[in-house]
Amino acid sequence: MINLIIGTQWGDEGKGKIVDLLGETADYAVRFHGGNNAGHTVVIGEKKFPFHLIPSGILRPKTVGVITNGVIIDLEVLLKEIEFLKENGFSLKNKLLISSRCHLIMPYHKALDEAYENARGKNKLGTTRRGIGPTYADKVSYNGIRVYELVNWSAFEEKFSFQAKIKNKILKLFGVEPINIKKSLNEFKKYREKILPYVADTFKVLQEAVKSKKNIIFEGAHGVMLDNDFSPYPFATGSNVVTGAVNTGAGVILPKDTNVWGVIKAYLSRVGGGPLPTEINDKIASLIREKGWEYGTTTGRPRRIGWLDLEAVKFSVKVCGINKIALTKIDVLSGLEKLKVCVGYQYQGKKIDYSECGYLELTELEPVYKEFSGWSEDISKIRDFSHLPKNCQNYINFIEKFLEVPIEIISVGPDRNQNIYKFKDRT
Ligand code: GDP
Ligand code: IMO
Ligand code: MG
Repeated sequence: MINLIIGTQWGDEGKGKIVDLLGETADYAVRFHGGNNAGHTVVIGEKKFPFHLIPSGILRPKTVGVITNGVIIDLEVLLKEIEFLKENGFSLKNKLLISSRCHLIMPYHKALDEAYENARGKNKLGTTRRGIGPTYADKVSYNGIRVYELVNWSAFEEKFSFQAKIKNKILKLFGVEPINIKKSLNEFKKYREKILPYVADTFKVLQEAVKSKKNIIFEGAHGVMLDNDFSPYPFATGSNVVTGAVNTGAGVILPKDTNVWGVIKAYLSRVGGGPLPTEINDKIASLIREKGWEYGTTTGRPRRIGWLDLEAVKFSVKVCGINKIALTKIDVLSGLEKLKVCVGYQYQGKKIDYSECGYLELTELEPVYKEFSGWSEDISKIRDFSHLPKNCQNYINFIEKFLEVPIEIISVGPDRNQNIYKFKDRT
């Protein structure tokens, strides 16, 4: 069985939790794009596990984590994550594989990300400043350095020194401190020793796994609205987020019977700049932010809040071929008197689709809302769809009908066990 998890909004939909849940019996959990701009949370009882590069499925005893070629790696962050897991009793010995094709996030990438953001001033994009854009830019312009070079150390030394010298010139133009090449090389030498044991031919491993019908979970990062092509660019991330990224990012062609899960948060959040048609800035937004603890897993920044935008999600469903939905954080909406859902856009007096919009249209358009009556009950302990308040059922049923995709999981709290499964079978 193959499960692919896709964030359908602007990220932070609760993908980490769903990966952990659906990956219970997975043989492999795979990160196939993005870098440590991702922050995926798994909660088990009192303990919180924030993942940035290691697949969230790794906590399951027999699951092997795989980081494939589409992922870009900050070695310092990866090693810290490995340490954190070890300290919490999860050894990664024989449980983590890293492709030698992964590109490395270098100190100069982080410095460049920071320098560009500062230079943009009031037009800053609000990146995570983790070096994502500059690393992918180097990848496509043949200036990247891969784990492959780490394996072949003298090639690494040569390429790193060459690139760092050029980047230092650019950093100088920004008036930024240059990278200390010698110091960086010494650090990379230390990282190298620790990382090399995990390097493997992930292509071969996954080809074999697909052929022998192993249970695989592909963990998408970010959200379709941040996809490098399908976002309101330049308010994007550096990678493709859509289903096709599994092919380019892991070398796998997904079989027809793949479960393509769209994770939808019952409202929406966004970190960073850019248009957000259904954004709210009032008391309700603060209430949702505090109750849903909408603060960045990676940067700690307060997340912007908006009503659920089904026009945008419908686009994600189409572009990714989503055939199952996991709806998350519906518990956070308890206590609101009225709820709104965006069911379409109006621009200059006419209907406009998400696919027609760039950032200018998305900034100016008017969302068309459908209003719902809220519910006051705490639903976090409910495990049966039929036990949910009627108004909550109406809200969920509407989403399902609008998107024409079955909602199979309703998550009503951060913990692994706070879920309502396949409610249709029970009603
Ligand atoms: P991801 O990036 O999509 O994996 O999402 P994040 O981990 O960045 O943010 C989701 C946050 O919501 C995390 O703190 C989760 O523990 C939490 N969470 C996930 N599902 C639920 C849910 O159904 N209800 C509540 N209250 N919190 C949830
Ligand atoms: P997960 O996987 C939320 C956003 C950043 C910024 C834009 C570009 O946890 O859902 P980048 O550092 O990628 O160049 O920043 O993309 N962004 C995310 N927002 N969740 C994420 O990942 C994100 N990954 C990138 O906030 O607006
Ligand atoms: Mg996140």
